Amino acid sequence: AEFQRDPLLDFTGKVALITGAASGFGALLAEALGRRGARLVLGDINEDGLHAVVDKLTAQDIEVQAVTCDVSSETDCAAMVALARENFGGLDIAVNNAGIAPPQVHFEEVDEETFDRQHSVNVKGVFFGMKHQLKLMRGQKHGIILNVSSMAGIGGAPKAAAYAGAKHSVVGLTRTAAVEYARHNVRVNAICPFFTLTPMVAGLTPPPGASVEQLHGLLSAGCPMKRLGEPEEVVNAMVMLCSPALTYVTGQTLAVDGGVSA
Ligand code: NAI
Repeated sequence: AEFQRDPLLDFTGKVALITGAASGFGALLAEALGRRGARLVLGDINEDGLHAVVDKLTAQDIEVQAVTCDVSSETDCAAMVALARENFGGLDIAVNNAGIAPPQVHFEEVDEETFDRQHSVNVKGVFFGMKHQLKLMRGQKHGIILNVSSMAGIGGAPKAAAYAGAKHSVVGLTRTAAVEYARHNVRVNAICPFFTLTPMVAGLTPPPGASVEQLHGLLSAGCPMKRLGEPEEVVNAMVMLCSPALTYVTGQTLAVDGGVSA
């Protein structure tokens, strides 16, 4: 295909690890990179969902290794990186995408369990992943990491305090690793999507008495484009940030938000 000759979008032979690959952005990104030639290491806590994605990719002759994992476990994160090293000989791209949705409650109603769970998956999951990915990439003297933050990682997010705290941490981890590992030829960026119609957003509960359509209307109202994002729109930006051609871009957070942050 034409895009396979374009160095901006050529992932031929690249090894790409993606967490949260059973659904939403992760599943679509796996297909997008795989179709452009990448060999994949996929992880998710949802075993059945992951198997369905693997079957779909294998049917397209995409090379894939998959592992059921919980990103809040350092052992599991290390195992994913080891899988890439042992089966594919290294790791070119790592996308720390797995995450859980915010419970829609006011700040003062956030209990400790909710706060801890948000940070366990959405922060520790990214931190442990990065820690082991960075170690391998430093040794290789090259690598690309993309972390999935959120609009809630660069601005306030009403009724999502614990999620916003966690997603801001993802930006802090991204910037710190970027400056610390730049000398090792490892680039680290983050993507910050606005509400996008993945299963995560489809699963948000509308306020009492409101329909799902009304909820989407409420969410879209704050967006200059007056609509939510489509998963493919976010995944296209993720592919760009994973591109081996973006050699001077590091430590950045890219908002994919229909102009919300403009
Ligand atoms: P999704 O719910 O469709 O996919 C998330 C995947 O992560 C699921 O397959 C789930 O099983 C997996 N996962 C959850 N906890 C895990 C764990 N402990 N270990 C391993 N895997 C785990 O949601 P979506 O929308 O694709 O979310 C992907 C990322 O995008 C998340 O980090 C989310 O916070 C972020 N995001 C999503 C936005 C949206 O509007 N959909 C907006 C901004 C950020």
